[in-house]
Amino acid sequence: TPGKNKVRILCIGLDNSGKSTVINWLKPKKAMAQDVVPTVGFSVEEFTKNGLSFTVFDMSGQGRYRNLWEHYYKEVGGIIFCIDSTDHIRMCVAKDELDALLEHEELRSVPILFFANKMDLPQAVGPVQCVQNLELSKITDKPWHIAASNALTGEGIDEGITWLGTQMG
Ligand code: GTP
Repeated sequence: TPGKNKVRILCIGLDNSGKSTVINWLKPKKAMAQDVVPTVGFSVEEFTKNGLSFTVFDMSGQGRYRNLWEHYYKEVGGIIFCIDSTDHIRMCVAKDELDALLEHEELRSVPILFFANKMDLPQAVGPVQCVQNLELSKITDKPWHIAASNALTGEGIDEGITWLGTQMG
């Protein structure tokens, strides 16, 4: 069937964590935006990877838009959760948002890919520290994976998306 190789993904995480930059990296080069600006509400992006065609809902991470995220939960087959690994102060806010997401029954068994993003910056904490801070080991009802990433160069992103693809393909 034509829809067989299509997957829908929700890309979430706090504002400034790098969601749009990650997605921008995955888009065909000619469609790449020159400058990534804060997302208002959400935007929809498409790209193809390993024979899978991805439709990504890139949600705004700003506080006043975060309640939009849950309206998409029943629509998607996978989640990308972007973490600003340099934002030590707001790591607990990211955890609160994640914990709220994990309560949702619609997302049971839906795979989550975490990016420990901004790994290029000196104050970045590694994925192991992110696993601890967000208590990811407590997630037992769905597959998850964390990859360190630099969305400016694309480092780590392909590895993560390939994992997500294998979970849904
Ligand atoms: P909202 O749309 O507000 O939710 O933000 P967002 O999560 O989409 O973040 P965005 O992609 O707009 O990136 C925020 C800022 O971080 C931008 O200035 C990016 O250039 C920068 N940025 C994103 N990823 C990285 C990274 O891996 N390393 C570094 N050094 N900067 C990054």
